[in-house]
Amino acid sequence: MIILSLESSCDETACAIVKADNDNFVLLSSIVSSQIVKHEKYGGVVPELAGRHHLELCTNVVRLALDEAKLTLEDIDLFASTRGPGLSAALLIGMTAGKSYAMAMNKPFVGIHHHEAHLLSVLLEHEKVEFPIATALVSGGHTMFVVVEAPGKYRVMGATIDDAAGEAYDKVSRMLGLAYPGGPIIDALANKGDASKHKLTRPMKDNLYDVSFSGLKTATKYYIRDNPQALPEDVAASFQEAVVDILTTRIKNILKLMEKEGNPARAISLGGGVAANSALREAVEELGAQKNIRALIPERIMCTDNAAMIGVCAYYHHKLRGEDNLNADIKSSWPLSSLQ
Ligand code: KG4
Ligand code: ZN
Repeated sequence: MIILSLESSCDETACAIVKADNDNFVLLSSIVSSQIVKHEKYGGVVPELAGRHHLELCTNVVRLALDEAKLTLEDIDLFASTRGPGLSAALLIGMTAGKSYAMAMNKPFVGIHHHEAHLLSVLLEHEKVEFPIATALVSGGHTMFVVVEAPGKYRVMGATIDDAAGEAYDKVSRMLGLAYPGGPIIDALANKGDASKHKLTRPMKDNLYDVSFSGLKTATKYYIRDNPQALPEDVAASFQEAVVDILTTRIKNILKLMEKEGNPARAISLGGGVAANSALREAVEELGAQKNIRALIPERIMCTDNAAMIGVCAYYHHKLRGEDNLNADIKSSWPLSSLQ
């Protein structure tokens, strides 16, 4: 089955072509056009602008993806678009385009859950994956811990009660007078700094599965305000150490619970933009080695939003739930737990 998938939930306009057979995947092409520079000066994504850029870029990314895969629309068996969650103005463009291609080519269409796609993206890069997998999904909009029992079977174990991890990175970057998105900048800076100069708070440390980043963000803000001599790289290092500690503690707690329940994790995985973080990747690799289980960490390009993960998810969505109706609406809020 050849799948053409579109992603337009936030500020990346993306199209991919994935060949899927018997739960095996080959990525034939993946085009991601990032709008980051268009939103940079506003310090975050402007929904109306994002929608307009998706409209401008959408047909071009499709054309490029088809060209790179040396295919035409006639070769596509299934069309897929991100249905939610995300920015309405952005989702509408990808959904309308995907449905229109499906209708014009008289082929099935599926509307994909963006987080389910992040969770399944590891299946594209790794072979012989065994379940259950303990996954931390950490992006600019969401932070949650999910046990993937199998494709289509998810158990949401915990989440942030306020800011997402990526959002905290973006805000700390702004506090230090640095650019958007803050994650890669703070990550690089932290690697040059000394976290031992100042230990930042770990909010909600008694909570086993939920996290909070708002308190950490405020603690960082006060630390910067009260210590104007503090080096930005040391602030970044302390902040990053706290984020990684907060996230890995919850992953460890989930692994413990899974062991106690008699169904231990066969792997740990990461997804979402913050999964590109060097310290988090290293910590999860180490944890996997300690527990003697696989650490399935996506390539950095697969961590941030892309359409290849939408293609993999489309295969399972179609296999498990069938095709979607062409009058399917977008779902800008769409809890993962409602997929069951
Ligand atoms: O998944 P994503 O591309 O978009 C959504 O939010 O859905 O994630 C973007 C987020 C941004 O907040 C960005 O600052 C963060 O991921 N990010 C990182 C790194 N690279 C991107 N955060 C920490 N370290 C990184 N290396
Ligand atoms: Zn995402």
